[in-house]
Amino acid sequence: MATSKSNLSWSANSSIAAKHSIPSSFLSLSPSLLPVRRRRRVNLNLRRDTAGSLRVKAMATAATATEVGEMRTREELKKGIAELYDESSGIWEDIWGDHMHHGFYDPSQEASLSHHKAAQIRLIEEALRFAGVSDDPSRLLKRMVDVGCGIGGSSRYMAKKYGATCQGITLSPIQAQRAQALAVAEGLADKAFFQVADALEQPFPDGQFDLVWSMESGEHMPDKRKFVNELARVAAPGGTIVIVTWCHRDLSPSEESLKPKEKELLRKICDAYYLPAWCSTADYVKLLESLSLQDIKAADWSEHVAPFWPAVIRSALTWKGITSLIRAGWKTIKGALAMPLMVEGYKMGLIKFAIITCRKSE
Ligand SMILES: C[S@@+](CC[C@H](N)C(=O)[O-])C[C@H]1O[C@@H](n2cnc3c(N)ncnc32)[C@H](O)[C@@H]1O
Repeated sequence: MATSKSNLSWSANSSIAAKHSIPSSFLSLSPSLLPVRRRRRVNLNLRRDTAGSLRVKAMATAATATEVGEMRTREELKKGIAELYDESSGIWEDIWGDHMHHGFYDPSQEASLSHHKAAQIRLIEEALRFAGVSDDPSRLLKRMVDVGCGIGGSSRYMAKKYGATCQGITLSPIQAQRAQALAVAEGLADKAFFQVADALEQPFPDGQFDLVWSMESGEHMPDKRKFVNELARVAAPGGTIVIVTWCHRDLSPSEESLKPKEKELLRKICDAYYLPAWCSTADYVKLLESLSLQDIKAADWSEHVAPFWPAVIRSALTWKGITSLIRAGWKTIKGALAMPLMVEGYKMGLIKFAIITCRKSE
């Protein structure tokens, strides 16, 4: 098993492991997943110069979206996403609770599991603040759609915080059922509603929602233009759209596409997590601009989410994590084995944790 590839990647893996208290054996479990790591010295301090809020000038075209990750048909992708979340949502909830998304941390913060759960709530709060969603009781949001709702953590949070009526959609029947059961159990049966539906063909009339919320679902969407069109279509006049998603880095003006080794890393991540082609934050901004949406803002929060994946890896390596993974099934195990690739992608500056928000004109 000890191929020259895995030997070469060992020192980098050890460095990642030491820095984040991840057993290095985990990072060498699947050398075939990790060849891009060879010959690199790894330092997980994410670049600080990209953090913070910025109004992004759309400079890259959406062309990169067609170059990476198109290895499945749309139907295969939808089926794979549904099966992945059907299989893995129970184990995730068991260990991590309601929210299937990153946490938002102060840079260099040490965090325990309870801190990670608090950081997940903080991500929601930071996103609401960034988007300018008001806490003013006279302007509280009334109707929200949770696009790619998981087991409904964001919806239940908003239903409690604002008294809003929330509609959640997911591709996973198990998630929709679980989200509804939790809403009933938490006394939100008349506030939060969940169904299986495709974000690219939402089962809602135009102009319905004060808040259109997509928390880490955009990366699964094979047609970003259609995705953004649908978000804008269902938003009420004056409504806010929030997209928190994984992007690849913006291309520089002299680049036409990502580098081959970057494409190769994304290809492996796409394979494991049922993702289609990625796009950049600038691509999203450009799409929103093309729809004449207002107050478009974007920020790179990669630095703020850096502790998240190492923590997920550590939680997978507990006895409970390992036995649950084995019980969950192959798609979940494959996803777990690909987690170091996300760490690597962030560290390379290739993967960006982006927030993009805007408002539909009145
Ligand atoms: C990483 S989970 C995020 C869940 C949730 N937003 C949260 O933060 O807890 C991604 C979610 O996107 C959903 N999803 C992916 N593609 C979708 C699509 N085309 N239509 C609807 N939901 C989709 C998945 O079913 C899953 O619920």
